[in-house]
Amino acid sequence: MANDFKTWLSSLKGKCDIVSVMSRYCHLVQKGRNYWTCCPFHIEKTPSLCIYDYEQTFHCYGCKEHGDVVKFVQKIESCDFMQAVEILAKSVGMEIPSFSTTATDDIQKRKKEKDEVLAVLAEAKNHYIQNLYSNNAKPAQDYIKKRLLTKRELDDFGLGYSMNYYDLPQHLKSKGYSYEIMQKAGLVEKGNNGYYDVFAYRLMFPLFNMYNECIGFSGRILVNDKTKAKYRNSSNTLVFDKSKTIFGLNLVRLLKQKQAVDRVVIVEGQMDVIAMHKAGLKNTVACLGTAFTSQHAKQLKLIAANAVVCLDGDNAGLKAANRVVDVLAQEGFIVKAVTIPFGQDPDEYIKNNGSQAMQNLLDSAINHIDFQIELLAKGVDFSKSDEKAMFVRQSLALLDKLGSDSEKQIYLRHIKEKSGVPVDVLRQDIINRSNNVTKKEEEAQKDIINIEDGTNKAIKFILASMLYKKDYVNYNFNLLKYLNNNTYIALYNLINKKREQNQTFTISSLYDDFDFDQEPNLVDIVNYNFENNGNNEKYYKECLWNIVEKDLKNKQTVLNEQFQKETDGMARKEILMKISEITKKLKKKDMED
Ligand code: UTP
Ligand code: MN
Repeated sequence: MANDFKTWLSSLKGKCDIVSVMSRYCHLVQKGRNYWTCCPFHIEKTPSLCIYDYEQTFHCYGCKEHGDVVKFVQKIESCDFMQAVEILAKSVGMEIPSFSTTATDDIQKRKKEKDEVLAVLAEAKNHYIQNLYSNNAKPAQDYIKKRLLTKRELDDFGLGYSMNYYDLPQHLKSKGYSYEIMQKAGLVEKGNNGYYDVFAYRLMFPLFNMYNECIGFSGRILVNDKTKAKYRNSSNTLVFDKSKTIFGLNLVRLLKQKQAVDRVVIVEGQMDVIAMHKAGLKNTVACLGTAFTSQHAKQLKLIAANAVVCLDGDNAGLKAANRVVDVLAQEGFIVKAVTIPFGQDPDEYIKNNGSQAMQNLLDSAINHIDFQIELLAKGVDFSKSDEKAMFVRQSLALLDKLGSDSEKQIYLRHIKEKSGVPVDVLRQDIINRSNNVTKKEEEAQKDIINIEDGTNKAIKFILASMLYKKDYVNYNFNLLKYLNNNTYIALYNLINKKREQNQTFTISSLYDDFDFDQEPNLVDIVNYNFENNGNNEKYYKECLWNIVEKDLKNKQTVLNEQFQKETDGMARKEILMKISEITKKLKKKDMED
């Protein structure tokens, strides 16, 4: 298999001449046998990147970047190896063969389905754009004016408008798309009067994958209405996974093909991204109101090594920023952060103060540890010993994750400035801490294992299946009985309430009810990747059994203990009966109460 791929890859490379591929991205000048160009991977005025035609390699004498045609595409398209191979294969019309021996038909079928979903999404995107300029789009046009968006931003981001409930499905139907495929694309749902556009009356922001294909939408309501989610995002589909999607990443990737991009800026909302672009800060992205995860960070890492976090200037924003900087640092970014004045977001800050002020604010970004120390110091009354002590303890805890003592030393000054505790004393505290920390880490590790046991995994899958209304869900199964976590219980009750009242509800509305930053399990549920389980229906049944089985076994253990202690003959007999009942159930995999 590996050999097959190697053979195929070399035939691909044979078709992808490095000079012609690179000339799509760079201006090449021939000198003798070789070609030269200004390196797209660092800033320079005179060419120092050389392409060796006979070797089919490139080498930059400035930044030392080098490799073959695949490596070049990886760097310039900010993607990984297989994605680069896919891009090259597409460009010469080669199909990546499937080298596994199983289920090629399935793969073919899925691919066809994905292509259909992408096609209907592309058509929807174009239709929404057209709508925006029609006579019936006055509400959207007024809104756009109010938000000071110009034609430039509308075009760059492909903004559109969903006119009403039935315009889009009718249009798509007339183009030959089935309701089934529209639904698979997350565009419509079935109501009493037929299929309707789930984004009706919203300003539409298309979302893109790395090939610049539209994979979904985020839609904003035009008139504030507390009963509706301000933004509604596509539900997860064959081609869309909200937890992996980064708004604006497609444009930053294009930008990187034109100029060196040394840092990415992370903001909260798509309107912030657009405002930043308008202000000339085109290296800005946002994730769609989901908790920021390492999956986001990994994609951004392909763009640049530096990140600046610039979230909203409210308590929620600061709290989120505290987490985002950690995730970025863990992925190896050099991370800085800024604080926007209270109550504003980047969009409003630019409106109030201008683009230059925003640029200055970004330039004043501070290292993420200093940022976190500042956050900890917020609201602390340093005249009160207990508050001061708490601040010192928490700030020192921040330093635990730093690798070297010299690094810790740098931030001790900052802690001293805030608290007045001398650096020497702080240093001794650090030494004492590090003796304790190892023990605590071991305990924490144990906790994680306990939390992430099979039952928790099963519960997450079952809740995700309910949330996404999978048709195999058995609503008679009383999951509640097995839930021992308040968030799960709240989610379970919410889903059931909405179901009983026959209300549709958007996943994004969950963000109002739950604090996702505090709930990694909830993030897993909302972002559940159903593709990982093979047959979901079968897996669902296994999960139900997993939970019941665990519960039965626990009961059996308790009964066994009772049996050991019990002296009364009758009572012992009764316990034995119960134990044998459970044994039977376990044997028969009986899920009845
Ligand atoms: P914000 O509530 O901060 O909105 O949500 P915003 O970006 O300032 O939007 P405007 O300026 O009022 O238009 C930040 C981001 O969280 C996601 C969206 O991606 C939004 O941009 N979000 C917010 C949702 O997904 N659903 C919601 O209901 C609200
Ligand atoms: Mn805003």
